[in-house]
Amino acid sequence: MSEPVWQRGDLLGVAELSTAEILHVLDTAESFVEVAARPIKKVPTLRGKTVINLFFEPSTRTSSSFEIAEKRLSADNINFSTSSSSLSKGETLLDTARNLEAMAPDLVVIRHAHPRVPHALAERIAAGVINAGDGAHEHPTQALLDAFTIRRRKGRVEGLKIAIVGDVAHSRVVRSNVLCLTRLGADVTVAGPRTMMPEEPESLGARVVYSLEEAIEGADVVMMLRVQLERQARASFPSEREYFEFFGLTAERLRGARDEAIIMHPGPINRGIEIASDVADGPWSVILEQVANGVAVRMAVLYLLAGAKSGADGTMP
Ligand code: CP
Repeated sequence: MSEPVWQRGDLLGVAELSTAEILHVLDTAESFVEVAARPIKKVPTLRGKTVINLFFEPSTRTSSSFEIAEKRLSADNINFSTSSSSLSKGETLLDTARNLEAMAPDLVVIRHAHPRVPHALAERIAAGVINAGDGAHEHPTQALLDAFTIRRRKGRVEGLKIAIVGDVAHSRVVRSNVLCLTRLGADVTVAGPRTMMPEEPESLGARVVYSLEEAIEGADVVMMLRVQLERQARASFPSEREYFEFFGLTAERLRGARDEAIIMHPGPINRGIEIASDVADGPWSVILEQVANGVAVRMAVLYLLAGAKSGADGTMP
């Protein structure tokens, strides 16, 4: 008998995923899409499982998407943020984790400002850990939902020209996406101002250019990144107006991309800085589809991890 494709109990980064595992998540997510269209948006798949959501950084999309995914799978869930937990009283993360562990959760979803905190947590607790974003390191479920959105819109990822543009240095989204999309056979280019590139940009594993026009020439997919002012000691560009002038996506600039190129953004959008409103809200924007698809992809991840922890074989019920 062949080994099941998915045997992981944690999802810490795309770096550790094989192409087969990425495709397995995307295929599993396809089977959860239709739950959102049901009058009663619920399946019993994770009934009796407990999920803890720990968000130590602000989040709208990821936190609400995980919470909805957990509820649609009938899991019991509780949410902690820094302000609502005893971390604000000085408790260490490890003590918090040990105390949460004592309540026997099955899965813990964590976002943290420091890279590899989810990895450290996974080494210390028995529950499955899902990285919901660790500093500028990785955001694996964002990359999986982005790949899922591209595949649904374009029918494939392999062979597509994908441009990822903006604040590359501070973005966990770009790291996870380059790993995920190149593993699926896409031709990925990253672009941004030199002041917003990491020290060794080639180590990202994609073509690197310093011009938006050059990056999006002939692109099938244009993914814009948020300017992450909260991760910069001081702004890496002289003014918002100047950033938009050189790296903002406008309808005029988009003419360089292929006809029917889709426009993506992980959110939250800084309108008029990274992207013009008429492009963000225009016919080729799939930004809200990314959000909708995020629920199905996170349902798939929760389902696969819970199954691996309980020894199930990962096939759909
Ligand atoms: N894309 C994303 O991670 O958005 P949030 O910060 O709102 O979760």
